[in-house]
Amino acid sequence: MTMIKFPEKFEWGAATASYQIEGAYNEDGKGESIWDRFTHQKGNISNNDTGDLACDHYHRFKEDVELMKEIGLDTYRFSIAWPRILPAGKGKINQRGIDFYKSLVDELLQAGIKPAATLYHWDLPQKLQDKGGWENRDTAKYFNEYARIMYKEFGDLIPRWITHNEPMVVSMVGNLWGEHAPGFTDPQKALQVAHNLLLSHGMAVKSFRESGIDGQVGITLNLNHVYPKTNSTEDQLAKDYCDAFNNRWFLDPVFKAKYPEKLMSLYQNEYDNPFEMEKGDLEIISRDIDFLGINYYSRAVVEYDESEKLNFKTVKPDGVEYTEMDWEVYPEGLTDLLLRLNKEYTKAPIFITENGAAYDDQIAEDGQVHDKKRVEYLEEHFKAAKQAIEAGVNLAGYYIWSLMDNFEWAYGYDKRFGIIFIDYENEQTRILKDSAKLLQDVIAKNGLDK
Ligand code: BGC
Repeated sequence: MTMIKFPEKFEWGAATASYQIEGAYNEDGKGESIWDRFTHQKGNISNNDTGDLACDHYHRFKEDVELMKEIGLDTYRFSIAWPRILPAGKGKINQRGIDFYKSLVDELLQAGIKPAATLYHWDLPQKLQDKGGWENRDTAKYFNEYARIMYKEFGDLIPRWITHNEPMVVSMVGNLWGEHAPGFTDPQKALQVAHNLLLSHGMAVKSFRESGIDGQVGITLNLNHVYPKTNSTEDQLAKDYCDAFNNRWFLDPVFKAKYPEKLMSLYQNEYDNPFEMEKGDLEIISRDIDFLGINYYSRAVVEYDESEKLNFKTVKPDGVEYTEMDWEVYPEGLTDLLLRLNKEYTKAPIFITENGAAYDDQIAEDGQVHDKKRVEYLEEHFKAAKQAIEAGVNLAGYYIWSLMDNFEWAYGYDKRFGIIFIDYENEQTRILKDSAKLLQDVIAKNGLDK
């Protein structure tokens, strides 16, 4: 049997986020976050689920690190809950919050697992939302202050830092579509939020450099390669708009110090001044980063539709596979995306900071979880990643989303993305799924059988 081998220093990991796994939402001095507020309002989340308890990782992190060790992870990506560190978002530091992450990081380092920390995976302190949240430019300043505290406390312990996770989702899903906290449906607010998030990223990169930490800093963007439904000029145009909205609105400022022009003029036709930006902002946003993190789940296929505000409509191809999220399984999209990033955006290392799939997993009679579909999904995506490496892409590592089943935002606990099963009804027992065993094997061989 032939083997697909990954580069020698390639890093294998798994990812999570604070609100999705920690629980302990009001323990040890933690302040309220916008996700606490949003989930406590009935009707926002499927089954009215909340992250109050989640996977109780806050109390079970030692057991969870043991499992990571058993799988053999090189690296673990987690996020820090800002309101644990600064309950009001700024000002007084909560030492017990720092202590929790110190214990987690200690445990990881002892297990030989490299910690990678995301500073913002969506749980903004509610107190800052009360002052306008990310729509308020001051929030970028407070984020930078919080980042500096983290660099000072953890700079010698955590070698990899991600400023933001998916600013597109934060701005659009939370402020335009209203499906995520804080739940607004205001296009201009969403654009302002996107800009301020990017600005705060640039500010935190500068602080990182000033702190002298011997490590890497980058940002994680959710990107999906976009394909036109047909080769018609109209559908090509639709593709460009969708790409500008989903991908380039974030890639271009970070790497090219500009916003996509065509989409910007569309916004300008609609609103005199789509959002506030100050002179010099784009220089701040485009400061050099050490790596780009990408979250890839699926592709987008679009067609032209004049009745849509941005001239495109997403279509669902027939006769193909979909996950429980109703997302098409399309591994080639990962190869195409990586090639495009390499060609048009960066030669810096790229990490896949999230890739994975939701399926309706069950515990089988033998007490195991045989998640065949997820195993196939991952194998195909590993191969797609390898193809990109062969074509010259500087891909440095791969984090699976997610280490464990968890609170899947608007879907609550309905959707399972984990390679570790959480038996919520049975004292949160953890069971390694077959996909975890696949990863174990892939890590041991640094490759997979063809
Ligand atoms: C997010 C995760 C989320 C996953 C699956 C990404 O958008 O970063 O928090 O659970 O996708 O939806």
